[in-house]
Amino acid sequence: MQSHDPADQAAGLRVAPPRARPPRVIAVTGGKGGVGKTTVAVNLAVALSEAGRRTLLLDTDLGLANVDVLLGLSPRFTLADVVEGRCALADTILEGPRGLLVVPAASGKRQMAELAPAEHVGLIRAFSDLDLPLDAMVIDTAAGVSDQVLTFSQAAQDVVLVVCNEPASITDAYALIKLLSRERNVGRVQVLANMVRSPAEGRELFDKLARVAERFLDVVLNYLGAIPYDEWLRRSIQRQQAVVEAFPSSASALALRDLARRADQWQAPSGARGGVEFFVERLVQGAGAAA
Ligand SMILES: Nc1ncnc2c1ncn2[C@@H]1O[C@H](COP(=O)(O)OP(=O)(O)OP(=O)(O)O)[C@@H](O)[C@H]1O
Ligand SMILES: [Mg+2]
Repeated sequence: MQSHDPADQAAGLRVAPPRARPPRVIAVTGGKGGVGKTTVAVNLAVALSEAGRRTLLLDTDLGLANVDVLLGLSPRFTLADVVEGRCALADTILEGPRGLLVVPAASGKRQMAELAPAEHVGLIRAFSDLDLPLDAMVIDTAAGVSDQVLTFSQAAQDVVLVVCNEPASITDAYALIKLLSRERNVGRVQVLANMVRSPAEGRELFDKLARVAERFLDVVLNYLGAIPYDEWLRRSIQRQQAVVEAFPSSASALALRDLARRADQWQAPSGARGGVEFFVERLVQGAGAAA
């Protein structure tokens, strides 16, 4: 069932009992544009939902909203409306496949990086007010290495860095790792090779990046594996569906589901606070670091 009425959804969400444990927050980033960040974020989130994890997918790319387009959802309100005070964060939530909750961004709006500090605070407050029982939150970030990208990545427990086998992607990935490690104290980055033609290509790509990063930076890179280049994935995008739903036995869907399985086993966040409070705290700390 797909209900797009935010009011209904918000009401339904409020009755669920709170979880004892904070949700796992995973930011999907990459530096370069077009490497597959949104594709990975959407499919990871759908696969986690499929596995029974209450998952929220947060689109923080206010410049170009991809998540709702990729999932064929029609937002009534977006994160931009929250920032501008027109609605509460709960009002923006849409229901995607398998009960996935989606907070959409908005097309053609200003980048979050351009938000005034007061607007940033408003957004953070909106997150504090959102009292949802979640197991996981997946954040799709914009291309580039803006403060916004760094802040959302820092606020997450795990950063999944999507990289392709092309010089610009590797260079941009390195630049992002460098900023995360030097300026944001991120000590571990999960590297996912995308659009590879063979498993060996993914491994070599990772080795290349890890050699440089571990020599010059104080950071541990973990190889998450590779998503193959897959025409079925392109077809799923044309259908506005996640490939794990549309073509569940395609090579890319298998790899993406495997990614979700492993992400689900990463060490659980410590602390017993519920909701998304801890994420908000880290978001505030990150925003402070950027100032
Ligand atoms: N494994 C893959 N196989 C084939 N095509 C892929 C794969 N991953 C991504 N693509 C294609 O690459 C294009 C870019 O993907 P996507 O929008 O996810 O990238 P992005 O990093 O989010 O881009 P942006 O920086 O613009 O937000 C899409 O058209 C998608 O279909
Ligand atoms: Mg994107």
